[in-house]
Amino acid sequence: MSRDQLVAMARRSIDHAKANTIELVDEVFRVPARNYFDQARWEQEMERIFHRMPLVMGFSCEMAKPGDYKALEVAGTPVLISRGADGMVRAFVNSCSHRGAIVVKEGTGHARRFSCPYHAWTYDQQGDLVGILDRDSFGSVDTACLGLTALPVAERAGLIFVWLRPKAALDIDTFLCGYDDLLGQLGFVDCRVVGSQTIAGPNWKVAYDGYLDLYHLPVLHRETFGANMANKALYTAWGPHQRVTSPSRNVADLLADVAPEQWPTERLTLGVWTIFPHVSIASFESGGRVFMVSQLYPGVDPGSSFTVQTFLHTQPDAPGQAEEIEKTMAFLHHVVQDEDYYTGLRLQRALKTGLKAEVLFGRNEGGGQRFHRWIDAILATDDDDLAPLFKAGID
Ligand code: FES
Ligand SMILES: [Fe+2]
Repeated sequence: MSRDQLVAMARRSIDHAKANTIELVDEVFRVPARNYFDQARWEQEMERIFHRMPLVMGFSCEMAKPGDYKALEVAGTPVLISRGADGMVRAFVNSCSHRGAIVVKEGTGHARRFSCPYHAWTYDQQGDLVGILDRDSFGSVDTACLGLTALPVAERAGLIFVWLRPKAALDIDTFLCGYDDLLGQLGFVDCRVVGSQTIAGPNWKVAYDGYLDLYHLPVLHRETFGANMANKALYTAWGPHQRVTSPSRNVADLLADVAPEQWPTERLTLGVWTIFPHVSIASFESGGRVFMVSQLYPGVDPGSSFTVQTFLHTQPDAPGQAEEIEKTMAFLHHVVQDEDYYTGLRLQRALKTGLKAEVLFGRNEGGGQRFHRWIDAILATDDDDLAPLFKAGID
């Protein structure tokens, strides 16, 4: 089924490329400039979006074996993800039940038990408290109630989703709207993580706008990769999640003499795949295929964010691959930091003056329009109505 969808999307793209057409939405859309810097609005986004939506916090392939773990901080919450002996992935608030210390230092690793660095209370892979130092003199406590606080977690398409609240306001399948079938075609399960780097950026929505935006490619990126790129975008949506492709003569020509059953999956899955509210996936040919998964996390205030770029490779061990990967990573660091986020941080400062009332998304920027309309819809929706919103959609 998902392959049929991929083929249908490729046909649509080819038809547009041949006819030199593009899909336009009905109207130019206006977003209040305040939405990018207003403190109250940002706090509402943290509460209603980042604390209610499942967020991509890891990859199945980076913690494939029982005992593998990953610790990270997301939107101010320390999170520990651990794969148990039963193969199940679990997630916890990475804060000790004794006095709250961070139990596991940020990073990935392999462990049977987690010992708190403050007073050595010890937890197992299920998050249960299994050891208290000098237990006799500590006093009587019910260890069964003192495990790490569990967070909901789900594994789909080789991605690990975690919610930052113990009770999920939205289940994973309703949230993904069937998108995971398509994401599965990217083949993350069979990749290996080959590198990761972090880049400071502007308000999370300024950054996300950029991931949905092909209009800027030949302009802002003219000196790096954009000079000969089209600025036209085709958007396909599954709820708030969107794939962005460019109707390209190249793809049309490459597939012209091949029967659709034979169209290679790598070609059918090109473009940018976004996962609301904070992920963008791009891919490049590099002796196999290298994926750059950008996980965009809000910073400490409306004007800041940071992006973790994780690189996954289909053939990481091929000869010469290490140098290629290093070059690709350095190039993409440069593009995003010195072109995208350089521009984003400065426009953020300009908007914050309050001297411009609104910003515009054109009829050719339907993806950006949909992103902001979904944000507005989610902010206006209480927990009980979230699942109906995702099932009904907003289009
Ligand atoms: S805070 Fe963790 S053992 Fe004391
Ligand atoms: Fe860009």
